[in-house]
Amino acid sequence: LPDENFKPEQLKFQDIVSLWVTQILQTYGGKESKDNAPVCEGVIDDLVGGPIFLALYPYFRRYGGVFKLAFGPKVFMVLSDPVIVREVLKEKPFSFDKGVLAEILEPIMGQGLIPAPYAVWKNRRRQLVPGFHKAWLDHMVGLFGHCSNELVRNLDKSAEDGEVVDMEERFCSVSLDIIGLAVFNYDFGSVTKESPIISAVYNCLQEAAHRSTFYFPYWNIPFATDIVPRQREFKQNMKIINETLNGLIQKAQKFEGTEDLEELQNRDYSKVKDPSLLRFLVDIRGADVTDSQLRDDLMTMLIAGHETTAAVLTWGLFCLMQNPELMKRIQADIDEVMGDDDRTPTYDDIQKLESVRLCIAEALRLYPEPPILIRRCLEDVTLPKGAGDAEVTLIKGMDIFISVWNLHRSPECWENPEEFDPFRFKRPFANPGVKDWAGYNPELFTGLYPNEVASDFAFIPFGAGARKCIGDQFAMLEATIAMAMVLRRYDFELTTDPKDIGMTMGATIHTEKGLPCRVRRRQPVTTATAAAV
Ligand code: HEM
Repeated sequence: LPDENFKPEQLKFQDIVSLWVTQILQTYGGKESKDNAPVCEGVIDDLVGGPIFLALYPYFRRYGGVFKLAFGPKVFMVLSDPVIVREVLKEKPFSFDKGVLAEILEPIMGQGLIPAPYAVWKNRRRQLVPGFHKAWLDHMVGLFGHCSNELVRNLDKSAEDGEVVDMEERFCSVSLDIIGLAVFNYDFGSVTKESPIISAVYNCLQEAAHRSTFYFPYWNIPFATDIVPRQREFKQNMKIINETLNGLIQKAQKFEGTEDLEELQNRDYSKVKDPSLLRFLVDIRGADVTDSQLRDDLMTMLIAGHETTAAVLTWGLFCLMQNPELMKRIQADIDEVMGDDDRTPTYDDIQKLESVRLCIAEALRLYPEPPILIRRCLEDVTLPKGAGDAEVTLIKGMDIFISVWNLHRSPECWENPEEFDPFRFKRPFANPGVKDWAGYNPELFTGLYPNEVASDFAFIPFGAGARKCIGDQFAMLEATIAMAMVLRRYDFELTTDPKDIGMTMGATIHTEKGLPCRVRRRQPVTTATAAAV
């Protein structure tokens, strides 16, 4: 972090307008460009006909790791080169804010950590990160197993009846239940029932997706939220969510001074009645933290931690179903580690379940959530050359798309990038053609999961640098446990052509109509036969 006196540059309205006019004149009027980037005039049909992250891939192959995308009056700089991404996310994180993303998310997350400007972010990050400490994560492993058990029990019935199950929907339910209990000790129970709060949460997520892809922010027009039906519905749903969150904050505050506090300080979660993050935040909150800031933090974690994990599980299963030999190998590994008793995985088991962990990482490489990170430049930043030849400058006020999708599927950084190959993370990969890029080095992957350090920023599923995800370990452990538990018990078969699954973009990558699967109970292979597979 910069020192206490650091204040990032502030963008003024006139900065944005003057940059926009300059960009239009340069792009369409042939004026010389200060940024020096190649210009790609986007074809509107490419950009509005499907998810934008897909449309950017062919442009990346044609124009390289940094180019300026212009379509109509909109201009964005698109970055897909690891050296440049390292510069933006790790070396100069405070030269950027969240720009358009913050504008879209503000009505939902308020001043939560994801959209927060630097002044709010630096205090809240300092308070939130300690909440994800090791003792708490170890305790959460039990919760992940418990909630995944509910999912598995529910699938038993579908397996018996031979019905087709939408596994995307099931994974969404289990991850919502987990995040509710972990963050604010609230049992949504969505695996087994429906309720107004659950549909309110889903509606708000859909609205965030709608706002991020709509052409102009009509919801900011006076009275739009009272007149337009979907905006009226959104307002009502936000009311339901806010009332629930405010009620939970008050309840957590009443806990103060009970015997739980001592156990919490000793990190002995086995005796704590309410191990939620909310409780932790209430206990450590400083006098300057308002209830509304707490609400924003909770809402941010609810949204950030729910759909993302569900999407990794969905796409991970999708990829495995198309690789039956690999699926068998993973199932055999699970059987070997878990043995024959019907129990939930422990932290020790996760350490042994390497192939499942690598499958989760590989699913995140092929389907990063979100596929694009958004930034706006607060000052001029000259980029290293990276794979391109030009020295590009990002100009103050410029909107930036960091395409994680392009980076994760770049043939410059990955061998057979389109292939689902979890064991690639155990092999080194180098390419001297990408200037200043150290390549992928499995020896640098020292934790349980590969990360940006081992890949020198070619693999950034959780972002990188100061604004990196705070829930990365939580999410990976959760996904590993849920995946191990469903694969151990069932064989899955996709009941439709994989090409028909399609992709749509919300806050994460969704299937077009779900992931329909036939589910069959399997007999876990005994330890002896597992070794033979
Ligand atoms: C930030 C991905 C799970 C909370 C981020 C960012 C990414 C990401 C890419 C960086 C965004 C940017 O730089 O603009 C994911 C994925 C997840 C996941 C793929 C699951 C597989 C979670 C969970 C939580 C969480 C479980 C909390 C319980 C956050 C927060 C931030 C964040 C609070 C903002 C950090 C900051 O700006 O300081 N996440 N996330 N995420 N994530 Fe996650």
